[in-house]
Amino acid sequence: MRRLEIKRVLEEGKPGQAVTVAGWIKSVRQSKTVGFIHLNDGSCFDSLQLVIDEKLPDREAALKQITGASLRASGTLVASSGKGQALELRPDSIEIVGECDPSSPVQKSGTSFEFLRGVAHMRPRTNTFGAVFRVRSELAFAVHEFFRERGFFLCHSPILTTSDCEGAGAMFQVSTLDLSKPPRRPDGLIDFSRDFFGEKTGLTVSGQLEAEILALSLGKVYTFGPTFRAELSTTPRHASEFWMIEPEMAFADLKDDRELAEAFVKHLLERAFKRCARDLAFFEERVEKGLRAKLEAVAKADFAVLSYSEAVAALKACGKPFQYPVEWGRDLQTEHERWLAEEHVKRPLFVIDYPLSIKPFYMYCNDDGKTVACMDLLVPRVGELIGGSQREHRLEQLTRRLKDCGLSEESYRWYADLRRFGGAPHAGFGLGFERLLMYVTGMENIRDVCLCPRVPGFAKF
Ligand code: 4AD
Ligand code: MG
Repeated sequence: MRRLEIKRVLEEGKPGQAVTVAGWIKSVRQSKTVGFIHLNDGSCFDSLQLVIDEKLPDREAALKQITGASLRASGTLVASSGKGQALELRPDSIEIVGECDPSSPVQKSGTSFEFLRGVAHMRPRTNTFGAVFRVRSELAFAVHEFFRERGFFLCHSPILTTSDCEGAGAMFQVSTLDLSKPPRRPDGLIDFSRDFFGEKTGLTVSGQLEAEILALSLGKVYTFGPTFRAELSTTPRHASEFWMIEPEMAFADLKDDRELAEAFVKHLLERAFKRCARDLAFFEERVEKGLRAKLEAVAKADFAVLSYSEAVAALKACGKPFQYPVEWGRDLQTEHERWLAEEHVKRPLFVIDYPLSIKPFYMYCNDDGKTVACMDLLVPRVGELIGGSQREHRLEQLTRRLKDCGLSEESYRWYADLRRFGGAPHAGFGLGFERLLMYVTGMENIRDVCLCPRVPGFAKF
């Protein structure tokens, strides 16, 4: 008999129906006359209860198994008298597929997330991480649905690149040179012209610049890919490898950009409610009380908008002792961002028009000459979820900015060409996918929403 996934059994199964299921044991319980095995195959949060009675030939072998073992069972579905499930399976045959050694690190429930990080290859077998990775998959599809429904084209930006989009010097270098004796130029510096690509190359920190190429021909595009940052931050919100969604629209300004960002976040929340209800109910129960109500309120709220200058004024006036000083011209720190979103406006908040001096070269310079047309979307608990801007499309201003930022005009000639040959105002943003997942699931550490987290000092498997 063909195997039926447990999700389908629970949703569509009928009493009397013969089915075969396969999965991993969540728990085994035995009373005098019957035994119960909860079987989960990952297709959904809930497990199927197998009722093992005395007639089953493989009864002993089955009830000897422990949490984690895998088995295949065939039998008949019956209406369940137990709480919390409509159907259970009375198997007439059970085949043990893979026994589980008692030393399994995910034997017991209630182990800490920190402990589980050390056994990241086994943690998806736990309820929490199973739920995290199902939500992750559903929301990835929801991203594509959102943009497709709105006529955006998917753009595959390169992963290997020679341009440092954010200009923060956080690129991982990619080289095939012999590290022990790299070729040197007469001035003693490494001669990258003899490297694989003929110049210094790295892993992308953002697909934006290349997405701009396509936006200025197809109109509306988005990228959704891995990005890499060699920053030495070990905060719970920073990973060295993370996935970013970056839409880019031609003939659009900052307001269009903000509207798109707000609609996007709301769409993702709606999809999570619709497609991940059971997993979200678990996060509500075990990870963050009040999560569902909080997300529902956000899905309905109008996001607030404050200029950077207004935000600085509010922070200065609030009288809270912050660790980092608040001064016009300095970047906002996490503590400031959280106060603004959590206490000041109590909902997601766009902070717009940051000082030019603390933002990358590509942002559109406002008429005041001191600020740029950019936005950060700050959300309670997670802080910055989105960073975006209108792009500098005026050739003269862009050339000046490149110079002021110490970037070579030659390296960015292709970028300037997009302005030189029929430029157009355009805007876009980047949403950090793992930050979104933290927000939706209530998980507090970015390492707990990545299958194999990459952070300074750690890149296992
Ligand atoms: O603000 P960022 O650096 O913006 C850009 O990269 C722009 N090029 C985006 C654009 O306009 N197309 O990053 C965007 C988002 C942040 O708001 C944050 O959610 C996430 O990416 N992010 C990180 N997520 C996890 N770990 C890190 N180290 C992150 N750095 C940024
Ligand atoms: Mg940012």
